[in-house]
Amino acid sequence: MKIWNREAWIESGTEAQRKYTATLNPLAWVLEYQPTILLPGKGQIPLEPWPFQQTFMACRDRFRIINKPRQCGISTIVAAEVAWEFDNVPGAQIVIISKDKDAAINFHTYVYNILRSVRKNNPNAPKLVKTNERVTTNEIGAKISSLASSKESGRSFSATHLVFDELAFIEYAEDIWQAANATLSQTKGRVTAISTPKGRANLFAQIFESENNMGFTTFQYAWWDVPTYNPCYDEYMKARESDDKGLVKKIIAKAKLGEWYRTNRPKYTDLAWRQEFEGEFDANVGTVFSVRQIEKAFVRNYLKQKDDPRGAITEWWSIPKEENHQYVHGIDLGRKNDPTVICVYDVTNKPAKMVEFKYVEAGFCEWNEILAICRETVEFWDTVGEHDGTGVGDSISEGLDGFSYPFMFTKTSKQNMIELMQHAFDFKMVQIPKIPLLFREHQRYIWDDKDIVQDTVMANGLAIKQFHENDDVFSGFAELHFVGEV
Ligand SMILES: Nc1ncnc2c1ncn2[C@@H]1O[C@H](COP(=O)(O)OP(=O)(O)OP(=O)(O)O)[C@@H](O)[C@H]1O
Ligand SMILES: [Mg+2]
Repeated sequence: MKIWNREAWIESGTEAQRKYTATLNPLAWVLEYQPTILLPGKGQIPLEPWPFQQTFMACRDRFRIINKPRQCGISTIVAAEVAWEFDNVPGAQIVIISKDKDAAINFHTYVYNILRSVRKNNPNAPKLVKTNERVTTNEIGAKISSLASSKESGRSFSATHLVFDELAFIEYAEDIWQAANATLSQTKGRVTAISTPKGRANLFAQIFESENNMGFTTFQYAWWDVPTYNPCYDEYMKARESDDKGLVKKIIAKAKLGEWYRTNRPKYTDLAWRQEFEGEFDANVGTVFSVRQIEKAFVRNYLKQKDDPRGAITEWWSIPKEENHQYVHGIDLGRKNDPTVICVYDVTNKPAKMVEFKYVEAGFCEWNEILAICRETVEFWDTVGEHDGTGVGDSISEGLDGFSYPFMFTKTSKQNMIELMQHAFDFKMVQIPKIPLLFREHQRYIWDDKDIVQDTVMANGLAIKQFHENDDVFSGFAELHFVGEV
C-alpha cells in the first residue's frame, strides 16, 4: 500500500479533484484539510498519519478489530475517521463506547478538536448544530455520541458506526454487543473495536480467538510499529515489505537499544510488558511467575540445613552472618492452620541474596514460641523488615514492636507486592536458594490464591519489598521502608 504525506497528496491532483476525493475517503480528507492534534508539550500539530494508521484507515470493512500497544495513536486515528464520517456521510449516527465517563469525554475531545480545526481549512464543512462534552450534531443530520459503558447502553441507540475504545476494559461489553447487534444489522452499520489485551476472559480476546474472528478484520500492532517508539522504523518497514522475518527480528532487537525502549522497558515486568506493548493475551492468567522468572531468581541451594535444638522450627536453612553486611526480613505469621515463614536477605550487594529461611509448621508452637523465634531471628541478623499484620492481634504486633513492622494485606497491596517480586525476578535483583518447599510454592503460585499454599511467597515478598522498587531498577539499602511510609 502506498504511504501518503501532505506533499505527495498536493501533487496528486487539482484542488477540485482532491476535495472531491476527500468527501469519499477519510485519509484524503485528513491530508487535504489537515486537522490538528494535541501533542503534550508541543501544542497543536497537523495530523500526519503514520503508516499503520493509514493502513487501518484504508480498510473499509464493516467490522474491524485492533490489538494495540499503549499510547500508539489509535484513538486519534479513529477519532479522525469518525470526524470524516460525521462531515461527509449525511445522517451518520456514530456511537463511541468507552470504559467510563472520563474516557468517554476524552474521546469526544479528540473528535471535537479535529472537527474544529478542520473548519479552519474547510469553510464548506457542515455547520455544527449542537455540541457538548459528549454529543455533537451537525446540519446534515449526523451525530457523534460518546458514552460510558453501562448494562443498558447497547439498547439506547441506533448506530451506523459503533466504536468500542479499550474493549477489553469495558464492563458489560457482551451485553452491549448483543443488544447493538440487532440494530447494526438493520443499519448495515460498521463496528470498530480497539484495545490493549487484558487476559482471555473477555469479548475482545474472544473475537481474536474465534474462528473467522466473528466476521472481523483483525489488526495487530506492537511497540515496534510506532515510529516514535522504534528508532529503526524505516529499516523495519523495508524489512517487512520484503517479508524477511529473520531481518525483521534483527531490526527489532536493534530497536531495543534505542532510548524509548531502554527508558520504558524497566518499568514493567516481562508479563506486563508483553501485554501492554506486544499484544499478548495470556499475560495475566495462570501461574504468576513464569518459567523464565523462576529461572532467573532461583539458584542451586547454597544454604546449609540447621537443627533447632528445641525442635520448634520444622525447616531451617542458613549461612553465617558477615560483618558489616546489611540484612532485611519478611515474616508471614501463621494463624490458625498456617505455618510461620521467615526470610532474611543480605542486601549489601546486587543481587540481594537470601541468607536464611525458617519454616514453623502450623499447630506446632504456641504464639509466644513463634514470637520468640521471630524475635531471635531479627535480633541475630540485626535487621529491619515487615511481617504480615493482617488480622493478627495487637499483642503479636506489639511483641514484634521495634523489630518488625506490620504490613496490612489488601487485594491491591498484595498484587503490588507480587508484581514487585516479578519485577525483581525479571531483572535478576534477587538470588534465592532452591529449597524444595520454597521453590515449589513460587512455581505454583497463581493469582487467585485463595485455595493454595502461599505462605513462603508472602514472606519472601515482604522481604523483597524492603529493598526493591520497580520505578527505578534497584533502590538498594538506603531506601528501606518503615511503617507509615509505605
Ligand atoms: N500521526 C501522529 N503523529 C504524531 N503524534 C501522534 C500521531 N497519532 C497520535 N499521536 C499522538 O500520540 C499520543 C497517543 O495517541 P492516542 O491517545 O490516540 O493513543 P492510544 O493508542 O489511543 O493511547 P491509549 O493507550 O492511551 O488509549 C497522543 O499524544 C497523540 O496526539
Ligand atoms: Mg486510546
